[in-house]
Amino acid sequence: IMTVKEIFQTMDYGPAPESAAEALTWLVDQGGRFGHFIDGSFTRHTGGFDSRNPATGEVLASLTQASQQDVDSAVSAARKAQPKWEKLGGPGRARYLYALARLLQKHSRLFAVLETLDNGKPIRESRDIDIPLAQRHFYYHAGMAQLMQDALPDRVALGVCGQIIPWNFPLLMLAWKIAPALAMGNTVVLKPAEYTSLTALLFADICRQAGLPAGVVNIVTGDGAVGEMIVNAPVDKIAFTGSTAVGRRIREATAGTDKELTLELGGKSPYIVFDDADLDSAIEGLVDAIWFNQGQVCCAGSRLLVHEPVAERFYAKLRARMDKLRIGNPLDKSIDVGAIVDPAQLETITDMVAANSDGDMHQTAGDMPAQGCFYPPTLITGLDTAHPLMQEEIFGPVLVATTFRTPAEAVELANNTRYGLAATLWTENINLALDVASKLAAGVVWTNATNLFDAAAGFGGVRESGFGREGGWEGLSAYTKPRTTGKTLPQIAPFEGDKGPSDGIDRTAKLYIGGKQTRPDGGYSAPVYARNGTLLGHASQSNRKDVRNAVEAAQAAKGWARSTGHLRAQILYYIGENLYARADEFEARLNTLQGGRTSAQEVKDSIDALFTAAAWADKYDGQAHGVPIRGVALAMKEPTGVIAALCPDAHPLLGLVSLMAPAIAMGNRIILGASQPFPLAATDFYQILDTSDVPAGVVNILTGPHDALADTMARHMDIDAVWSFSDPALSETIRKGSASNLKRTWIDTSLPTIRDTLTAATEVKNIWIPYGE
Ligand code: NAI
Repeated sequence: IMTVKEIFQTMDYGPAPESAAEALTWLVDQGGRFGHFIDGSFTRHTGGFDSRNPATGEVLASLTQASQQDVDSAVSAARKAQPKWEKLGGPGRARYLYALARLLQKHSRLFAVLETLDNGKPIRESRDIDIPLAQRHFYYHAGMAQLMQDALPDRVALGVCGQIIPWNFPLLMLAWKIAPALAMGNTVVLKPAEYTSLTALLFADICRQAGLPAGVVNIVTGDGAVGEMIVNAPVDKIAFTGSTAVGRRIREATAGTDKELTLELGGKSPYIVFDDADLDSAIEGLVDAIWFNQGQVCCAGSRLLVHEPVAERFYAKLRARMDKLRIGNPLDKSIDVGAIVDPAQLETITDMVAANSDGDMHQTAGDMPAQGCFYPPTLITGLDTAHPLMQEEIFGPVLVATTFRTPAEAVELANNTRYGLAATLWTENINLALDVASKLAAGVVWTNATNLFDAAAGFGGVRESGFGREGGWEGLSAYTKPRTTGKTLPQIAPFEGDKGPSDGIDRTAKLYIGGKQTRPDGGYSAPVYARNGTLLGHASQSNRKDVRNAVEAAQAAKGWARSTGHLRAQILYYIGENLYARADEFEARLNTLQGGRTSAQEVKDSIDALFTAAAWADKYDGQAHGVPIRGVALAMKEPTGVIAALCPDAHPLLGLVSLMAPAIAMGNRIILGASQPFPLAATDFYQILDTSDVPAGVVNILTGPHDALADTMARHMDIDAVWSFSDPALSETIRKGSASNLKRTWIDTSLPTIRDTLTAATEVKNIWIPYGE
């Protein structure tokens, strides 16, 4: 302890600890023992594990590991409460959400101290960031509940949501999960992470104080085994935030069900500093990027990329700044770096760094506390981009760095990761900033700032950082479904036959890959018959090699993503016109294929779909969010990437066009599996594509049984999304295989509207642009 005189002489900070008294009193009042919060009240404590303060090792409370029975009763309480909660209506629910927000505000000091005690994060962060952002989330979503009927008249609640959250932002992640769910009329069963359950239990207490109807919020505590029970419970949605490994397991575990799923997973987010950046600001930003919450942040700027001309100067400044960071008692208002959440996490970080002998390592020189879970801020420069420490998420205060020469190289290095959560870039040049921002594979990009969050701007990633957004309008859609569902598409068996072709010529339709008609790799084809048994021709049977070839062609056509909406609209209009010119021919073909006389409407609808998608190509815009900084968050709509889509059996032309047109309108490239019973409608369509200036590889069409395509498509690492309107029996294969690179899946049984497909075909990237000083 420093004396006043010493503080005055050194001008150093003296300790300024926040009092833990109120939080400890609350814990003592609860007996230091907690059960779960189910159906509006706390269950009896039956024990199972302790929650400790990682800064001291002291036990804060004894918690209960949930049994299967506990999870079951939480889910049935939520189920029972749901209809009434939804019927309460948006304004009714908004009242409760406002009340929760206000109570969070009223007790903010208690929440902040309890969070810091339980998690080890500096009180400055829990007090100024975690708790205010959690309040903001409830206020914002109270507003969303209020507006739901007006703004989302066609959407209804999903039902019961199972929510599993990590330990790095315990209350904030709870708020991100619970606020939108409740606002939209869902009820929840939430499991906090086993290291940090206390603020969730305090929140349960707040729910009681707010008079929230019993069963609307249920909280069960325990480890991953309890998480698994929730995943397997009869809930309508799973929302998970945590490691990519567990996210992948949850994707697989829910593959055979129709549970909605959002996954907010790991990252290895780049932090790019250009030579014209305000270097001192970029250093301060970096402190927030990687030493905020001891680097235990999914979107931490953990990979530093510095422009070569300024690299040595920047590193020198950074090392000097690191040596000034104060590590210590998290309750001390003047420390910068607190404790790592748990000895297990400390060991993971320690081992990962100790295993490395490459590059140059610098660690903060200051004093380390003699005991507790602390790890010094660490910088390792000069690592190769393929180095494990450049690729693996460390989830600790460890920054790895390398240099780049040109903006193009910066983008290449930044995107050289399986993740795609966030990115930060610093430059005084707005052209460069926005150009680079648009090229980064990330759900969130911060320019000349870092780690900015707000309820109004969606947060979430691409690639193996998971799917779905939290916050903003995008976040809401993950807690709603359409009010009405379309007519279920029938499964149709192909006609059989034994008669030869009516004109005596047996034609075999090829595949359409990379703008060319190509023979199938296996050389097989299968006959296609009309209803009356006449042979109409042969369709090629694609195999996995054909899928791979199509993906290669689609990947090669990446220039399409950067083309203008105006150009894409022109091409879609052109396709529409060409189909219109040959409408009679297509009508006749569809009539023969499907064995009826009703195809005029299908052709007309297909032309209409093409024109509608063309119309949207330059109008399906993003938004500029008014976030509480001086600046904006640009919510840009970007193409999902390479999409593989299995077309419905029915409506062989309209089904194909309904998926293809909006997808390519938004800059995606697509690989279509044509209608299984009626493939020749798709193969005729090649000629339309050929005469419409569609660049090679933008649209690829495969024919043959979908079960041979589904698994290869789902497992292919260069496909970003798989859609299926085909046999529902394929959905488990598709969802399971998609866990490989966590691709987006969209599986439905009714013909999609153009709007549905536009939504599925785009990802929102939020680019934060502060302005002024
Ligand atoms: P984790 O992913 O195992 O834990 C997150 C949550 O999932 C916890 O509530 C846990 O109880 C639950 N869980 C664990 N196994 C489960 C299962 N099979 N089914 C359902 N729920 C399950 O993360 P963990 O082990 O605490 O940390 C390990 C690494 O994960 C970290 O080092 C870090 O790299 C990453 N991580 C990433 C986070 C993020 O926000 N992206 C948050 C926490 C960890």
